[in-house]
Amino acid sequence: MSKKIKQIAIYGKGGIGKSTTTSNISAALVEAGYKVLQFGCDPKSDSTNTLRDGKYIPTVLDLLRVNPKVDAHKAIFKGFEGVYCVEAGGPSPGVGCAGRGIITAVQLLKQQNIFDELDLDYVIYDVLGDVVCGGFAVPIREGIAEHVFTVSSSDFMSVYASNNLMKGIKKYSNAGGALFGGVIANSINNPYQKAIIDDFVKQTGTQVVEYVPRSITVTQAELSGRTTIEAAPNSAQAKVYRSLAQKIHEHTESRVPTPLETEDLRAWSAKWADQLLAVESGEIRGERDGI
Ligand SMILES: Nc1ncnc2c1ncn2[C@@H]1O[C@H](COP(=O)(O)OP(=O)(O)OP(=O)(O)O)[C@@H](O)[C@H]1O
Ligand SMILES: [Mg+2]
Repeated sequence: MSKKIKQIAIYGKGGIGKSTTTSNISAALVEAGYKVLQFGCDPKSDSTNTLRDGKYIPTVLDLLRVNPKVDAHKAIFKGFEGVYCVEAGGPSPGVGCAGRGIITAVQLLKQQNIFDELDLDYVIYDVLGDVVCGGFAVPIREGIAEHVFTVSSSDFMSVYASNNLMKGIKKYSNAGGALFGGVIANSINNPYQKAIIDDFVKQTGTQVVEYVPRSITVTQAELSGRTTIEAAPNSAQAKVYRSLAQKIHEHTESRVPTPLETEDLRAWSAKWADQLLAVESGEIRGERDGI
């Protein structure tokens, strides 16, 4: 019998750090001896390049356009310490549904039994921000991924996207969809940013998996075409990514979140805006109010 593969999907607002975080989690997991496949589900197909010295790979949709009966092995490329990389790809800009790329790519690999053949421990899907169409909800809806995490900073638009994702998860949860594992809090460098994210997870019945600071080490690594784990293995930031990967490894129980209604989310952010204003004007002291 094939072993249980842990399938994880990472969502979050555009540009928030999904691919950076996902690639560092994959790198930390392969470094720890696990067999990992990172599945880029973004039509930009730039999820896996820091695992491959900055090099891009042909996407599943590219290959299928040339040969509708393509051998799935042709879409799988090895990267850092043997991590497997796949990019779903997307349609030509302005034509068709980008989400279809995910459906097609996942189907191709499943039909050809690739996950079992590679004897994987992990498949990690790097998906788009909002559940904008059915295709992007595939890893949640079809129960392909078991655990969903969101990368979020403390900025309102990012929190808003995470709240939307939770709504998507809640909607499909009765039909055997994936459940919510937690928030990976990215770019958290100040106590008030931590306080905002902590409050958001409390409101939504979820948890923070790890607080990841914004760090120039990440920028340097990215500019050299590598993950932080590979480019700066002894850095403080690499330690944070290893700790995050370990927590994801240990994570077993995901749940149905309790997202806020849009009105409540607005009221919640307005409350925080007032509080931050009061801190700035010196009306209240940060320490006393826990921020
Ligand atoms: N913790 C961090 N410290 C410093 N820079 C970061 C951090 N996280 C992400 N970044 C930087 O932010 C930029 C966007 O990151 P990334 O490409 O991972 O985001 P994304 O969510 O995958 O974006 P997209 O929605 O376009 O796919 C990159 O230049 C990345 O290096
Ligand atoms: Mg990305």
